[in-house]
Amino acid sequence: MPTQGPIPVLTLDGPSGSGKGTIARAVATRLGWHMLDSGAIYRAVGHAALAHGLDLSAVDAVAACAATTRIEFRDPGDGGDTRVVVDGRDVTDAIRTETAGAAASAIAAIPAVRTALVAKQLAFRRPPGLVADGRDMGTVIFPDAPFKVFLTASPAERAARRYKQLNAKGLEVTLTNLLHEIEARDARDVSRTVAPLRPAADAVVIDTTGLSIAAVVTAVLAVVQKV
Ligand code: DC
Repeated sequence: MPTQGPIPVLTLDGPSGSGKGTIARAVATRLGWHMLDSGAIYRAVGHAALAHGLDLSAVDAVAACAATTRIEFRDPGDGGDTRVVVDGRDVTDAIRTETAGAAASAIAAIPAVRTALVAKQLAFRRPPGLVADGRDMGTVIFPDAPFKVFLTASPAERAARRYKQLNAKGLEVTLTNLLHEIEARDARDVSRTVAPLRPAADAVVIDTTGLSIAAVVTAVLAVVQKV
């Protein structure tokens, strides 16, 4: 279908547990747009690297793994969650563990890994539009996006949200451990030299601490509708 002008993108960046995933899905559904969960791509690569027994600090081997790993997002067709399939294996649940999150954060700091994943992410930009969830969507991958939002929340609130999510999935975690992991991951994501976590200069920053999901969805939709 021909479109006028570039395909619109709403970038939703922010730290882990800021509610991006939930908000991105809700907003994409409301707009009828596609959705990119870029964190799942980094998690999939981290998981694949560990599965291949790679040392995550072996830059060249991990970058080769990022370039060759086949990552697919499959709609189960029954209204259920999108399945993440890596080299033919369903890793949807496996990539959500804290181990996979830590591996994702480690490999995401490698410049060659990020470069290897750019084209994969750009390919998600299809009509009628895209909601892109990540850390560098507005700064690096889609700098020309007309709509940019940066979501934040206090570390304690983010740890509590993650705790609820993982507990509901039957995964055993403690709040204290989660808080430590979130703080360590934030520090790594913010301080890395390549694509550090920060709001784009033209992003609207929304602090979601204490806000309901519905309130955040409304605030994000307002960004798209205002322009
Ligand atoms: O959003 P998430 O927790 O699923 O992301 C997992 C890790 O991947 C996170 O520590 C940072 C990294 N990541 C990134 O560096 N760039 C992105 N666009 C998305 C995620």
